Amino acid sequence: MEMSVLYMTHPLIKHKITILRKETTTTGEFRKLIEEIAMLMGYEALSDLPTEEISVKTPIEETVQPVIAGKKLAVVPVLRAGLGMVNGILALVPTAKVGHIGLYRDPVTHEPHEYYCKLPEKIDQRQIVVVDPMLATGGSAVAAVDYIKQHGGKRIKFMSIIAAPEGVSELMKAHPDIQLYVGCLDRCLNKDAYICPGLGDAGDRIFGTL
Ligand code: PRP
Ligand code: URA
Repeated sequence: MEMSVLYMTHPLIKHKITILRKETTTTGEFRKLIEEIAMLMGYEALSDLPTEEISVKTPIEETVQPVIAGKKLAVVPVLRAGLGMVNGILALVPTAKVGHIGLYRDPVTHEPHEYYCKLPEKIDQRQIVVVDPMLATGGSAVAAVDYIKQHGGKRIKFMSIIAAPEGVSELMKAHPDIQLYVGCLDRCLNKDAYICPGLGDAGDRIFGTL
């Protein structure tokens, strides 16, 4: 199956990503922007959620209308930086369950290391939205999706705000069956595997640990 990659075109998303990149954007502004972009991207990414018809009674009459079908969605941030995107998705789907995948990149090898993972129950029956603002080498994204699949996850969407071409192709190669949503595709990685032009270290900028 071909992995589908959707690049965001909405002017509001483009504008907010530009402000996010600026070196002078403060921690508070950065956090707020990450959340707003996640909400706007989530709106696009969830446009194909299945619905079912239910009966409701309005003050006027009984009617049959659509609601979201199936088990509650699972939002799964890749720690730490993915945490910044969770509330944006929860603003759209307040009843979603939240899993966590703790990974950090080794500063020398750039390989991901797992330190904490927990997923909601019945993960095999849920639409899963993995969130991580940065898709650089793709190592963390591949490891996160590996973990979710090993625990039964099937319907997986991955949202990243800024991606490098290297990360997109690694993720496509390893997991051709998932859907990827990218806010902006950047030029390349530098020698330290940071995205260029990028925005620097997303986790540090969200949590003020620079
Ligand atoms: C960042 C980012 C991704 C990862 C991307 O996390 O949030 O998870 O790097 O890089 P990759 O595509 O090369 O794997 P980092 O490991 O810096 O951890 P942090 O979020 O805790 O700062
Ligand atoms: N992780 C980040 O936070 N930024 C990058 O540019 C690459 C990985």
